[in-house]
Amino acid sequence: MNQDEPDGDLTFENAVQKYVIQSMFGFQVVLWFGLGRKIGIFDYLLTKAKKTSENRETAITFTPEELSRELTLDTNYLEGWLQMGLVTGIFIHDKKHNYVLKTAPYIFELLIDTTSRFYAGEYLGLFYTMAHSQEKILSNFKTGKINKHQSIPKENRITEHKLSARLGKKHIQLFTENYQMQSKILHEGGYLLEVGCGFGFNLQNWARAYPKARIVGIDIDPEAVEESKKKVSEEKEEKRITIQFTDLKSHVKHNKGKYIVILLHHVLHEMEQSEKNRQQVFKYLHQLLSEKGVLIVGEPMIPELDVEKQPHFDLILHKWYEIGFGSKFYDKKSFRELVQDSSFSRVTFIQAPLPQRRYFWALEK
Ligand SMILES: C[S@@+](CC[C@H](N)C(=O)[O-])C[C@H]1O[C@@H](n2cnc3c(N)ncnc32)[C@H](O)[C@@H]1O
Repeated sequence: MNQDEPDGDLTFENAVQKYVIQSMFGFQVVLWFGLGRKIGIFDYLLTKAKKTSENRETAITFTPEELSRELTLDTNYLEGWLQMGLVTGIFIHDKKHNYVLKTAPYIFELLIDTTSRFYAGEYLGLFYTMAHSQEKILSNFKTGKINKHQSIPKENRITEHKLSARLGKKHIQLFTENYQMQSKILHEGGYLLEVGCGFGFNLQNWARAYPKARIVGIDIDPEAVEESKKKVSEEKEEKRITIQFTDLKSHVKHNKGKYIVILLHHVLHEMEQSEKNRQQVFKYLHQLLSEKGVLIVGEPMIPELDVEKQPHFDLILHKWYEIGFGSKFYDKKSFRELVQDSSFSRVTFIQAPLPQRRYFWALEK
């Protein structure tokens, strides 16, 4: 391309900025953040911010010596890391004191405070681990070989579940607004089942929103089930929340017609791929619902490769992250086809007003 001739609206300089400079910075921020998180720097800064709560949203100050001393870090490595933090603008110099650094504005909410709703550390942390799996993707690209979900390190599975639970939390209000009768029954002690509750983050959010509902979570991942059980006992909720290591088929045997609400959140795409198997899943779910029951299916609707549609980054990211684990996703049309022969009386795509992108499928018994 001639440097002086813009291609559409994109000039050569813009292209360099967009495809080269931003990518280089972005990739380094991912590596830099993932590493800093693993060696405990961000936890340290968070603890420090809590102790000196004044003004913590705008800046946390620290010195290189302090980090090296408190976290036992090599000073050469640390210096390189800190300089990368400075060049990316995440840290800045404290003008008043030599050798004192501080976090740039908004960094506290974005990268340090794990409880902030703007915290992006889970995503960046996950990207960091994706960098390590490139060799595997490379070797499987031509063969199509897939790995089991459970081969993903536990730490990463926890991160994934935290992220899906963040999306799941946004469904609660949407559910409450659209299914007032079922919501009332839950408030009065009705039964809720989460199939594929994983490490229990999504289940915990629903349990908090419905403090009287009786809740059951099932999953086929033994490690996740153990962690979920631990959470329930830490919160002293054993009386109303039960977590079971079991599959759907076994659970149906003794629980037909029991649940007013069932959640299938970010699970369907991970289930065994055959359509026949997945149709069977919907049959079981139908049997588990009580007369007025509703099944809430939270699934990213990912369009096929289609020139008409511009793919959304976060949807495609989800697909790209999970291709190597055999996940299979739906778009709106193929989802309807999947459930069309199930016995549900109504299948509705419930969506929050645009530009929000919160949605779920509601399947009424
Ligand atoms: C991405 S996680 C979602 C966890 C949780 N629902 C959430 O939204 O945070 C998917 C979970 O589904 C579970 N799962 C996959 N297939 C399952 C099946 N056939 N029966 C029960 N759980 C299943 C996995 O073990 C994993 O814990």
